[in-house]
Amino acid sequence: MILIDDRFVPETEARISYLDRGYCFGDGIYEVFRVYNGRLFEKEAHYERLVRSAREVKLPLPCPIGELDARLSKLLALTGVQEGTVYMQISRGAAPRAHAFPPVGTPPVLLAYCTELKRPVETMRRGVSVITRPDIRWLRCDIKSLNLLGSVLAKQEAVEAGADDVILHRDGIVTECSAANAMIVQGGAIVTHPADHLILHGVTRAVVLRLARELGIPVREERFPLETLMAADEAFLTGTTFEITPIVRIDGRPVADGNPGPITRRLQDAFEALIPQVETRIGEGAPR
Ligand code: PDD
Repeated sequence: MILIDDRFVPETEARISYLDRGYCFGDGIYEVFRVYNGRLFEKEAHYERLVRSAREVKLPLPCPIGELDARLSKLLALTGVQEGTVYMQISRGAAPRAHAFPPVGTPPVLLAYCTELKRPVETMRRGVSVITRPDIRWLRCDIKSLNLLGSVLAKQEAVEAGADDVILHRDGIVTECSAANAMIVQGGAIVTHPADHLILHGVTRAVVLRLARELGIPVREERFPLETLMAADEAFLTGTTFEITPIVRIDGRPVADGNPGPITRRLQDAFEALIPQVETRIGEGAPR
């Protein structure tokens, strides 16, 4: 089932206008929620970010958050997804193509659907390889905009280079990954780019930094150059679908000894403790 505005329709009957501004201009915003045990994980943080994105691009929400939440809960119940994601986007509606906002009263278009997706535990155990590339995105990466061309092109470069993902940098300063935040461990402390206009303020990022502080691991939200990344003791990425995934190779060179590091493992354990009922777990089989 697909949610369009306030209607639940079968996939084959889902229709969006060819004039939808999300389609023509990428004029809209989105969220991706994680579903564990049939419930939205950290949903308040996602709704808060949605409200902020909407405000920043002057997009009226189609309904109050309470109503939106009720629709997404119904979608989950209808589909029966237990472990997966909910994708949700809101565009500035359908109107004859012109760059300026459409006439007042043009209703925004809401679309949401659920997908079954198991936690990628094998990848979280083993770690991923990344390449580094210049960050060519716009200067409001804090807005979760539908416009993802910069991320799409970067991720495709990673695929073509045989890597799993890409770490972006602006003039040699590490920002984030194509669809995840990037963190390193340096001298026992976690270092990550400040939550400003150059990165997405990840929900998982916030959870990880909170867990780190609870574990007594120092956290430094500061800019760091590529050279620091290459010399890191550990590196990992954080995101809704990847959770905490170790980065074990960067531009073909191993991170430290090329294995996921101890602080990354501690954070993974702490994260897993937040979702006690899930069936898929990293725990067993992970080298410690
Ligand atoms: N991406 N940075 C970017 C550029 C992202 O697109 C994402 C999420 C993140 C991580 O944010 P969070 O922890 O809130 O998922 C960081 C989503 C999942 C996507 O586009 O599919």
